[in-house]
Amino acid sequence: MAAPLTSKLLVSDFASSVRHIPLTYVRPISDRPQLSLVENSGDTIPLIDLRDLYGPNRTKIIRQISHACSTYGFFQIRFTSDRSARLKTTFSRSNERLKAVDSTTRSSSPTVWLNQRKAHQIKNHGVSETTVNKMLTVAREFFHQPEGERMKHYSADSTKTTRVSTSFNVSADKILNWRDYLRLHCFPIQDFINEWPENPVSFKEITAEYATSVRALVLRLLEAISESLGLERDHISNRLGTHAQHMAFNYYPPCPEPELTYGLPGHKDPTAITVLLQDQVSGLQVFKDDEWIAVYPIPNTFIVNIGDQMQVISNERYKSVLHRAVVNTEKERLSIPTFYFPSTDAVISPAQELIDGQTSPAVYKSYPFVEYWDKFWDRSLATASCLDAFKASTT
Ligand code: OGA
Ligand code: NI
Repeated sequence: MAAPLTSKLLVSDFASSVRHIPLTYVRPISDRPQLSLVENSGDTIPLIDLRDLYGPNRTKIIRQISHACSTYGFFQIRFTSDRSARLKTTFSRSNERLKAVDSTTRSSSPTVWLNQRKAHQIKNHGVSETTVNKMLTVAREFFHQPEGERMKHYSADSTKTTRVSTSFNVSADKILNWRDYLRLHCFPIQDFINEWPENPVSFKEITAEYATSVRALVLRLLEAISESLGLERDHISNRLGTHAQHMAFNYYPPCPEPELTYGLPGHKDPTAITVLLQDQVSGLQVFKDDEWIAVYPIPNTFIVNIGDQMQVISNERYKSVLHRAVVNTEKERLSIPTFYFPSTDAVISPAQELIDGQTSPAVYKSYPFVEYWDKFWDRSLATASCLDAFKASTT
């Protein structure tokens, strides 16, 4: 492990008192974010309208999901806005209004609402703006607590199911990352809620509500992604064993030298899918066509990305894409990814339906998910994929 030149373990506890970042955070010149290059690229990830996912436009939306997953590995969806949901029940859905909403986004794709008008069909599958705002607020409060309160949960042991830590994997990172985090398991909730932080006092209740409603959204997305691959709706869900859900609360303090370090270096997620909530501070970048593109925050949207397990199940029709988080001098940044996984006992392999001996042979062999998981945590965060070890033999 690279020990920082400070007695503080968490970045939060020394960031504001240094004018230069400690050497243990400085990347070699060949591996720096080159922030000025990123700002200029005009591309962005698709924004997909899930409003009619259970209506007559389902096929069209599924096609958009397929395109986003195969081209970017990323897309954004807007979650239910409480206010707009109320408005929508009193106003007719005029084109004018939809256009007005569209113009607030940078994307040319249609805007999306997880429409509460269809609540009878998609009951409990939206995530309310109130739930999301409470989640962001209490997460920020968590990191603003005194050092002693946060350090109660500190551990470098990646097998612990609730812990505060820093960087990515302090036991393996040679260069540290400008990030602190709280990571916890949240499905099945009753197995883990007792170990979650007691403070702030509303933390458990708000996190439980958020995790439950994001899980409902994930299940819906897994169905849509299955269909987009030409599989039965419940195919992916059935392949994930009894399922697992984790959350991270990533806290990136302002950094005096953001061009020398990362919040999180380029990596691919170990998940089936990840649903990221971020605050209004930019930082996420996605690798596309040999360039890093910035994902500017759009209010009330989640960012969804394909993880390594989906890459395997889809037999590489959908790829897990490199992404990273950069930091800035001005503002703290908070992001809350929900990581959705197979349970450790699940056996992962490409879907039979997507294997064709001639044109698309199985790219991966079957493996118990736990083998992948152990490999993932046995190392530092790296751009090289953990999946190479699970390739089917080419003979
Ligand atoms: C992650 C991640 C991106 C962000 O936690 O895996 O990619 O913007 N986070 O914080
Ligand atoms: Ni990630």
